[in-house]
Amino acid sequence: MYKIAVAGTGYVGLVAGVCFAEKGHQVTCVDIDEEKVELMRSGVSPIFEEGLEELMQKNFEAGRIDYTIDYRSAYKDADAVFLGVGTPEKPDGSADLSYIATVARQVAESVENDCLVVVKSTVPVGTNDKVEQFIQDFLVNDVKVEVASNPEFLAQGSAVHDTLYAERIIIGTESEWAENMLKKIYEPFHLPIVPVNRRSAEMIKYASNDFLALKISYMNDIANLCELVGADIQDVAEGMSFDERIGAKFLNAGIGFGGSCFPKDTQALDYLAKQNGYELQTVKAAIDVNKKQKTLLYKKASNRLITFNGLKVAVLGLTFKPGTDDLREAPSLSNVPLLLEQGADIYAFDPVGADNFANLYPEGPIGQGSITYVQKPQEALQDANVCFIFTEWGEVKGVTPDQYKKLMRTPLVYDGRNIYGVEDMKRAGVEYHSIGREP
Ligand code: UGA
Repeated sequence: MYKIAVAGTGYVGLVAGVCFAEKGHQVTCVDIDEEKVELMRSGVSPIFEEGLEELMQKNFEAGRIDYTIDYRSAYKDADAVFLGVGTPEKPDGSADLSYIATVARQVAESVENDCLVVVKSTVPVGTNDKVEQFIQDFLVNDVKVEVASNPEFLAQGSAVHDTLYAERIIIGTESEWAENMLKKIYEPFHLPIVPVNRRSAEMIKYASNDFLALKISYMNDIANLCELVGADIQDVAEGMSFDERIGAKFLNAGIGFGGSCFPKDTQALDYLAKQNGYELQTVKAAIDVNKKQKTLLYKKASNRLITFNGLKVAVLGLTFKPGTDDLREAPSLSNVPLLLEQGADIYAFDPVGADNFANLYPEGPIGQGSITYVQKPQEALQDANVCFIFTEWGEVKGVTPDQYKKLMRTPLVYDGRNIYGVEDMKRAGVEYHSIGREP
């Protein structure tokens, strides 16, 4: 078993740390936020993720995991330091690597034993080479430090499961020593391991995410055409899914992809290509389609209603997908400001993300309109003139077609997640607009 330090306790770092502890390694998670560290030491997870808190508590009690702001003590005798810090998008689309650089320098100044630095964060191809050089430049003690790439493939909402039962572990190394250590660290997971070089590992992460983003944008593009020619995107997707070369997953057309990964990683690869004098036309198309998709329903509703001024607008779902409280790049963030600008009185429901949303849009009047947060979808629908569905939470799916008809002043629904059957809504007397299906 290894002594592992993890830098950063966001989705990537914390989940990795907890799962390493669960598999028997001795783990110390490092963060700069003292309050957050105290919270985690008391067994509370700073992020909403199914099953995480239980594993945090179990492994803390067993003495296999601890949390600290004292990076020196965590790094000095670690066999491996995993980097799970953020790489946010800069305005030009490139990745901001300042957090990576900070941790790399701290590692260089702290390590007293040979140590493998493993970059889990998504970083542009070639970054690991630079991190290794950077560490060598700042190294204080006469020890061996190498850098390996080990990209993370977990999805929010199923992060623990995705880590414990990953479909593959990509390890990008430049030496046998590094490759063997990573293989041993992952041995207790019993998962397929793909050893490649560092740059390939970095590229596998972007190429995988951007392929999935492309798949979604492709389905959204086809969905928009389906509407124009009288086809149904869900039937089309089902028909396509039997072809194993296409697969059944990630074929859901909707209101566009959000989250902290696809939007950022498509921009980053597009930027990397440009930097290298190449144009990635496919990825560029995925970005463009997604941008338009996010406000497609708002535009349709605007045409239908003329104005939102003074209308009660029910908004069901605020997060970028169910199972998370994360709002990053969520479609709600593209639509709510437009509705408020138009003077809409919004009644918003989200079972987990409402508090985060209220930090950005506090309850009460905003400009011409207003926003009120409610506990149940039905409260939002009561006397509403129009309803937008942005996230397919179970609570939202639980609203029956009849309830829209019964509760709303005008049963007019714009569904960005294709939750309902077109015929079921028609039968209930609801005017129903969804994505890629008959209006
Ligand atoms: C994504 C990838 O799925 C993970 O494999 C990857 O590790 C992660 O990014 C990352 O790079 O860290 P995540 O962003 O958490 O994970 O969520 P997804 O479930 O992939 O959903 C992303 C967006 O695509 C959501 O807005 C979702 O609603 C949308 N989506 C997904 C669709 O519109 N249609 C689909 O068929 C699937």
